[in-house]
Amino acid sequence: MSSALIDGQRHPAIVILDFGSQYSELIARRVRENNVYSVMTRYTTSAKEILLLNPKGIILSGGPNSVYEQGAPICDPDIWNLGIPVLGVCYGMQVMVQQLGGTVAVAKQAEYGKAPLEVDDSTDLLVNVAQGSTVWMSHGDTGKKLPEGFVRLAHTNNTPDAAIANHQRRLYGVQFHPEVIHSLYGMVILSNFVHHICGCEADWTTEVFIEEAMDQIRTQVGTKRVLLALSGGVDSSTLAFLLHKTIRNQLTCMFIDQGFMRKGEPEFLMDFFDRKFNLKVQYINARERFIEKLRGIFDPEEKRRIIGTEFIRVFEEESKLLGPFDYLAQGTLYPDVIESAGTNLDPKTGERVAVKIKSHHNVGGLPKDLQFKLVEPLRRLFKDEVRRVGRSLGLPEEIVCRHPFPGPGLAIRILGEVTSSNLNILRDADLIVREEIKQAGLYNEVWQAFAVLLPVRSVGVMGDKRTYAFPIVLRCVSSEDGMTADWSRLPYDLLESISNRIVNEVKGVNRVVLDITSKPPGTIEWE
Ligand code: XMP
Repeated sequence: MSSALIDGQRHPAIVILDFGSQYSELIARRVRENNVYSVMTRYTTSAKEILLLNPKGIILSGGPNSVYEQGAPICDPDIWNLGIPVLGVCYGMQVMVQQLGGTVAVAKQAEYGKAPLEVDDSTDLLVNVAQGSTVWMSHGDTGKKLPEGFVRLAHTNNTPDAAIANHQRRLYGVQFHPEVIHSLYGMVILSNFVHHICGCEADWTTEVFIEEAMDQIRTQVGTKRVLLALSGGVDSSTLAFLLHKTIRNQLTCMFIDQGFMRKGEPEFLMDFFDRKFNLKVQYINARERFIEKLRGIFDPEEKRRIIGTEFIRVFEEESKLLGPFDYLAQGTLYPDVIESAGTNLDPKTGERVAVKIKSHHNVGGLPKDLQFKLVEPLRRLFKDEVRRVGRSLGLPEEIVCRHPFPGPGLAIRILGEVTSSNLNILRDADLIVREEIKQAGLYNEVWQAFAVLLPVRSVGVMGDKRTYAFPIVLRCVSSEDGMTADWSRLPYDLLESISNRIVNEVKGVNRVVLDITSKPPGTIEWE
């Protein structure tokens, strides 16, 4: 069973059946941008299971397969008889056509990219969609014969049936991708579907989420005690505020200082949560332990593993001292839920693919077999929704808009062995990067901006004296979700002041270089 089904939520939803398209998650987000709740689940989810999700409509996503191939993914045929509106997108439309008795075949000409959409019928799905507006196509197959009861709503030069409908049964299909930004009226089409055709209210708002989440937390934990490992990122901070608002003193927050935080961060966090908001945080100073464990360790994966293991050890020891606790709160978000429900499908086998590139997500995280029950109130939210909730609960912009920061912290931004003196150098350089980017008004424009310390030395000259010191790499990227990224084109003036300040103010550094690698092939972090 998909984990979406064991979510415990019954808010009316648009259910997205994922056929493995790279845009599936985007559909879920676009629906929510219409203030309509959406859940995403595997295409194998049965009609019965879908009903448990309180569906108001169903969207079939795109996917990489050809529906006429043997073993191609299709959905439970009972879905067509639920009486619930269905919208098939790209491959999803082909599934609809094929399963309902039409035919799909290789298109005369594959169509990738932008195409003008000629609307033939603008009664329901295409209301308010301008004639000739651009849509985004990405398909090699096309519907050849429509199933009985279906009519054409729109066409493009290459695709006679670019949008189709069976008005009576409220079944719709679009060959293009309304969810991508290049489809100019894509949001209008999705809004027509969710609001007018499915009758969804615009009731998925931050306030509604907070109310529902507070109810759920109360029901789940009752009068029991809850432990939260606070990192200072937006997820765990929002979670802390939400839990504090709901269960007050039943909550204990623990902040483990590994010694790899940015300059001033531990102090800021303690000051902010504990003193300003009276949200009790147990500060655990574990700096010595961590640096000791990393002595003589050069391999990146080894560093990550040691930090991860040590984190768990400290966490277990300290929670015993502070406990007992019945629940552990975790800032799991919806993309994690989707990922663990297995939606990355292999185009050939339809099976989930997971490729380990770096052992991230277990580092700074906790193992699954801890003796706690989990409270995960944010598991229904995307990152931008978490930010809105955080804001609404009173978190300052400084935390809400914070750049992502990896669990192992600065330790994976010092290549090779981590020492106290290297950490101090990196902290000072990193602070300058942040200050300058903020000063230039670009902090919120970039996904991450940080410094990396390389363990090599080069020759320089300062005030007539020869220097032999470390270089700092400036890494600054734009990204949607961290999965892919491009290096940011920062203004030369800004680069100049960052470089000048680092070389002048940070002892031990005599050179600043710029990383201009995208991801892939590079990764965002250097280790
Ligand atoms: P990479 O380096 O793989 O990073 O391109 C992608 C995103 O993930 C962050 N990152 C981590 N986050 N624990 C985390 O919570 C980790 O161990 C970790 N490693 C990388 C990285 O900062 C970027 O945003």
